Amino acid sequence: MKKAVLGCTQLVTLKGAPRPRIASELRELAIIPDGAMLIENHRIAQVGPRSQIAPLIDADCEVIDAGHRVVMPGFVDAHTHPVFAGTRATEFEQRTQGASYAEIAASGGGIRSTVRQTRAATDDQLLAAAQKYIRWFLQNGTTTIEAKSGYGLTLDDELKLLRVIARLHPIRTVPTFLGAHEIPDEYRGRKTDYIRLLIEEMLPAVARDHLAEYCDIFCEPTVFTVEESREILTAARAIGLGLRIHADQLSHSGAAALAAELGAATADHLEHTDARGIAALKASAVQPVLLPGSVYALGSTRYPPARDMIAAGLAVVLATDFNPGSSPTPSMPMILSLACTQMKMTPAEAITAATFNAACSLNRAHEIGSLEPSKLADFVIHDFADYREIPYFFGVPSARAVFIGGRCVWGEW
Ligand code: NIG
Ligand code: FE
Repeated sequence: MKKAVLGCTQLVTLKGAPRPRIASELRELAIIPDGAMLIENHRIAQVGPRSQIAPLIDADCEVIDAGHRVVMPGFVDAHTHPVFAGTRATEFEQRTQGASYAEIAASGGGIRSTVRQTRAATDDQLLAAAQKYIRWFLQNGTTTIEAKSGYGLTLDDELKLLRVIARLHPIRTVPTFLGAHEIPDEYRGRKTDYIRLLIEEMLPAVARDHLAEYCDIFCEPTVFTVEESREILTAARAIGLGLRIHADQLSHSGAAALAAELGAATADHLEHTDARGIAALKASAVQPVLLPGSVYALGSTRYPPARDMIAAGLAVVLATDFNPGSSPTPSMPMILSLACTQMKMTPAEAITAATFNAACSLNRAHEIGSLEPSKLADFVIHDFADYREIPYFFGVPSARAVFIGGRCVWGEW
């Protein structure tokens, strides 16, 4: 299979050092004006100006004309919760009338209400629901998602969710075990028993069946404390899982410092992280994953301090946090818009955070996140002539065509 992509006003390659990008590097997109690309066997063979690539096109090469549009790597969404049953539109309505996310959770709703519905669903029902959301991710230009479990919270139900994640297609997935997402109803008042179940039964089963690459936890004083999180994550690390942490989302608990102490790949959310937390992340090269969709959807104005993090030299990542409670959006263009308008990231910084840096956070930078020879041909033709129009036009489904491994999975070609 040989393909050539021509007609790109801007081929946004993100070519550069094969490590997380920081500081001014975040603004360097390595754009080729009137760029072109050759694809062979699902991978990128050559990238360059049209004048250099066009003479290499032979008769058995299919030509994809981008029609004077931006072509760039597919978005890598490094934080999603895509497998669940039902929605929480009722809670959404309650929040418009003054109830807070934390109050709804404390009264038995929130994550626990999704858990009840998810436990009652079969594998096939969950897969069908998730495949609908996968279509939404693709339509918004996302080609890889990190996908968490976390709405089962029994051994069997967590394994059920991870097995559904393994069946998601044609999007690429990186699975994360999030059994420590909440204390389920039947363990209320018996948290230490649930922690034993996590450590002694769930984690070994996940590792045995190779169902996850990472372990995540909701570290929050009302859910898992820093001490409890340390115990669970240390056990996860010992069986070979990488670590990601929901950190300092609703309060400043010291979870960012814990991520640094444990050498986590990422600390996610960080709305309440202070200068010391930022310094700790820098010292341990933990990547911050910023999730402005959840701030927006919860009606808060407290966005994470992205500019301070960039100034401190952190390799910032942006993600949707797609989930039925705090962030029901699969749209990376919407997240880029929020990053630019609410956190004052430049469009170029936001794109690096949503592609290459996100790939680094998932240990996939050798395969995806930039358009460079030998990498997988995961790219998107956006319906714009200039990459800055992706965050500028908000609420627009910007992807015109989406390719994974050189194959068109959504759109016209
Ligand atoms: O990232 N904070 C914990 N987990 C999710 C919310 C999940 C839910 O509300 O269902 C988050 O915001
Ligand atoms: Fe989350």
